[in-house]
Amino acid sequence: MGSILSYFYGYPDDGILDPNVGLTGKEKRLVRETWNTIYANSVNTGVAIMSSYFKQYPQYHKVFPAFKDIPLDELSANMKFKAHCQFIMSTLSNAFNALDDIALMETILQSTGQKHGRRGQGRQEFIDLKGVMMEVMKNDLKSKFSPEVEAAWSKMIDVAFLKIFEGMENR
Ligand code: HEM
Repeated sequence: MGSILSYFYGYPDDGILDPNVGLTGKEKRLVRETWNTIYANSVNTGVAIMSSYFKQYPQYHKVFPAFKDIPLDELSANMKFKAHCQFIMSTLSNAFNALDDIALMETILQSTGQKHGRRGQGRQEFIDLKGVMMEVMKNDLKSKFSPEVEAAWSKMIDVAFLKIFEGMENR
């Protein structure tokens, strides 16, 4: 639901392209609104993303020293796994909340990329994760995941992962 001001005046920034992230005001608004819904249930959503990721790509399950020997069907009850999923979600949230502070957003994501690059993770792992994130968001948001929302999220994740790749490759 919009604020009282948007009720009277609409969303004047909707048509303005933000050159820092390549999203319009409307795309940023859709991302923020839907992220609030998703993040309200962040642990469960993070667990759904990472469980589905490991199921679809068992080779990535093996790169997590703390979880590699825990069978997939036991992971969602494992507190360390839940905590790790929340670390991922909170890092993403910090980045998405900094959409209007590009230097902060870049620093959060580049530093995430640096740490992952040092451990040997590459671009493909993240490209595969994007598909899983989009599926889980679609399941969570149901009818709110309109084609417009889907396109905004696809752009948002591409921008975020490009910043991660910058950090990964300049570590
Ligand atoms: C949305 C993208 C991701 C975010 C925000 C994220 C975030 C994090 C955070 C906050 C940590 C803990 C701090 C650190 O050591 O960096 C971490 C650790 C880790 N991440 Fe990611 N991550 C993401 C994607 C991935 C992907 C795609 C992989 C590889 C398949 C991966 C593999 C790992 C591994 C192996 C660790 C270390 C775990 C451990 O030491 O037990 N991450 N990640």
